[in-house]
Amino acid sequence: MSQHYQHDVLVIGSGAAGLTLALTLPQHLRIAVLSKGDLANGSTYWAQGGVAAVLDDADTVQSHVEDTLNAGGGLCREDAVRFTVEHSREAIQWLIEQGVPFTRDDEHDREDGGFEFHLTREGGHSHRRIIHAADATGAAIFNTLLQQTRLRSNVELLEQRVAVDLITERKLGLSGQRCLGAYVLNRNSGEVDTYHARFVILATGGAAKVYLYTSNPDGASGDGVAMAWRAGCRVGNLEFNQFHPTCLYHPQAKSFLITEALRGEGAHLKLPNGERFMARFDAREELAPRDIVARAIDHEMKRLGVDCVYLDISHQPPEFVKSHFPTVYERCLEFGIDITRQAIPVVPAAHYTCGGVVVDQQGCTDVPGLYAIGETSFTGLHGANRMASNSLLECFVYARSAVEHIVAQLDQVPMPASLPTWDASQVTDSDEDVIIAHNWDELRRFMWDYVGIVRTNKRLQRAQHRVRLLLDEIDEFYSNYKVSRDLIELRNLAQVAELMIESAMQRHESRGLHYTLDYPDLLPEARDTILAPPTYAD
Ligand code: FAD
Ligand code: SIN
Repeated sequence: MSQHYQHDVLVIGSGAAGLTLALTLPQHLRIAVLSKGDLANGSTYWAQGGVAAVLDDADTVQSHVEDTLNAGGGLCREDAVRFTVEHSREAIQWLIEQGVPFTRDDEHDREDGGFEFHLTREGGHSHRRIIHAADATGAAIFNTLLQQTRLRSNVELLEQRVAVDLITERKLGLSGQRCLGAYVLNRNSGEVDTYHARFVILATGGAAKVYLYTSNPDGASGDGVAMAWRAGCRVGNLEFNQFHPTCLYHPQAKSFLITEALRGEGAHLKLPNGERFMARFDAREELAPRDIVARAIDHEMKRLGVDCVYLDISHQPPEFVKSHFPTVYERCLEFGIDITRQAIPVVPAAHYTCGGVVVDQQGCTDVPGLYAIGETSFTGLHGANRMASNSLLECFVYARSAVEHIVAQLDQVPMPASLPTWDASQVTDSDEDVIIAHNWDELRRFMWDYVGIVRTNKRLQRAQHRVRLLLDEIDEFYSNYKVSRDLIELRNLAQVAELMIESAMQRHESRGLHYTLDYPDLLPEARDTILAPPTYAD
């Protein structure tokens, strides 16, 4: 039997954004944190490089702001960038207080009171400003925040719960616009339960799974963007899909990233004949922003007809390589590559969704009571190309500022009254799950081929035609069969793919991550692509 639950705050997502918010809210509130798989399901756990922040005395807020604006191709919202960077130091301080074991800087005796943690470098940054836990920063952060959350008796951590859709006053035919909760599939019972909440937070991560090759874990299916869109929220800049330049190229190495910090610590990109090539594309060479490096690799692979290029750090002392990059070292060794002696075969893969649900500086969406934080949101920080390690920072800063907004509303928002139970009376068990697998595969393949690193009008039109056919088929399936995690994700992924294609078609220029052969130039004025759903209420 399906159940009804009541919480003050429903947090959909247990990554950096969701856990930070749950830990920062006042402890008298009843909070549920949902994950559609196990709690470590999101991208956070896999983050390698670190968190960008102004921590060194030689660095400045202005420098971090300028680097972010430059990497963002003229499209970042300067107020969002400044806001994020100005709050970077306190966000890191909070993480340190939670107990995150960041790598210490053993080269310096910091009795002088200077910064005691090691800072690395990544593309686009003009200073060393990435704080990290070796090359497994995400796991260190996630484990620490989870441990702290488990100590909170007011927070329920619920695994295998897949949010299907948001419940809003508008959807129920009531007079207001407020979000009242969500329908959530409990994968253990197979039932769709009703969660009533005073505040609902989308912290559902990105949508890179829309592409065939990605660094992301399987759950990155854009659920937050799709649910928010259906609930009446605007979305922004979804054409900007970031491809990480260096993912391990090996038939068995599904989704393994080779952190940009390797290049920060001197690794060289090389062609199969050993020649370095980045200087031909950008004076910053291997440390140019990601869009430039990924495009350069794509260009060289196509020019030479090769399957990969190589990343080489073997000129650094083996002990240095092993101590800074133990995860990458071990993982590559499993595939027979000793990175202290050999170059690593690498290719670009979809990595980060720069656009998302339009929010303000406190994570508020267009629907009252609904917030979006972390990768699912569009704050304006990343512009046309996210700078490395600014993403985790955004999760912490915006989760903490959303809490301020929620706390200020607490007295005015009652618990929603009775909400209708999910109606499953018209659906049956599916006997054709192969359709889901087939559609999923087709979607990811044409997105890779037609909406990838280099685009054209024709390719986008083809993709749009295909995604519309798929959406019709999925809608029919959704109306007739019981929901499963795969069906929910496919429905969301197809919706987000359509929004990405539409956004790409609306941009008649090449800027940052959006590069099209039909409009190779930059327009004089930088504009966001904001799409509004038919249900959007001004
Ligand atoms: P996630 O950590 O992705 O968590 C999403 C959560 O939402 C999960 O718990 C998931 O189960 C849940 N969820 C999603 N949909 C539903 C649903 N329908 N119902 C219920 N639950 C749902 N960024 C950096 O700044 N520095 C780095 O070094 C870095 N390295 C990276 C390395 C890799 C391999 C990857 C993939 C990304 C990296 N990034 C890095 C990006 C960064 O990790 C992510 O942007 C960030 O972790 C996103 O955090 P999040 O909390 O928004 O979402
Ligand atoms: C990496 O370690 O290369 C990933 C950093 C990021 O995505 O910000």
